Amino acid sequence: MKGVILAGGSGTRLRPLTGTLSKQVLPVYDKPMIYYPLSVLMLAGICDIQIISGKDHLEMFRSLLGDGDRIGLDISYAEQAEPRGIAEAFLIGKEHIGRDQVALILGDNVFHGPGFSSVLTASAARLDGCELFGYPVKDAQRYGVAEIDDGGQVLSIEEKPRHPRSNLAVTGLYLYDNDVVEIARTLRPSARGELEITDVNKVYLEQGRARLTELGRGFAWLDMGTHDSLLQAGQYVQLLEQRQGERIACIEEIALRMGFISAEQCYELGLELRASSYGDYLIDVATREASAVTLT
Ligand code: G1P
Repeated sequence: MKGVILAGGSGTRLRPLTGTLSKQVLPVYDKPMIYYPLSVLMLAGICDIQIISGKDHLEMFRSLLGDGDRIGLDISYAEQAEPRGIAEAFLIGKEHIGRDQVALILGDNVFHGPGFSSVLTASAARLDGCELFGYPVKDAQRYGVAEIDDGGQVLSIEEKPRHPRSNLAVTGLYLYDNDVVEIARTLRPSARGELEITDVNKVYLEQGRARLTELGRGFAWLDMGTHDSLLQAGQYVQLLEQRQGERIACIEEIALRMGFISAEQCYELGLELRASSYGDYLIDVATREASAVTLT
């Protein structure tokens, strides 16, 4: 399965923070925002990932993550000239996707919860059409909203409905079979001028091939569209990390745990960042993983 991170948009609601920076490199406590969606794809076992962003911002991601080799990934980059909607990612990314299945994640979504890796792997294993992830929210009008039956089959899906039929928001993580590229080709822009991901999902729904897994209690799904929600996400990460001593979305640690890099490589990455507590953490993680690692 291929991965795509859509890190576009002009971040207008976060100005002036986004005056010169891409929204998705802004700090969420101790790491850039894009580490969070990247870590989700890694937890799903995906190594071949394309990052899509505006022309002015691509260089930022390139200098941050390079070709991904250091953490055992293959990262490529592609431009979205204008913010023309989430579903455009499949048109921009069609070469990258090739004939494979694809996981798309929005660059400003944080997912965190127990057993998430198993949830992802199970959804990927049964993928036939599309696999969505839902999250109960108070303000469903702001999102794509789904109704599901007891077995997780999607019964209806609407984009930002005035009167939501459920409180289940469709989160910014989507798994699709390869038909998605062809489906994206048939879309027409919505009233807001965008190729809507909800319209893609509706095609799968009509085919009876749309499923949704609810991420329920004890799970965190945060999007960071405003100054307050950005700060709250940072505080959430800070609270858990300080309390438990484990880092969330630490891409080097995940690369180690997933077997993408060795303990030695993780240790080296930690040494490079040694001036920070993040670097010390990597050294600690690598050392615990393999006592064979030389400490000096
Ligand atoms: C987009 C999607 C919406 C989804 C949301 C998740 O909304 O259109 O269906 O629920 O992402 O973050 P937008 O950010 O375009 O308002």
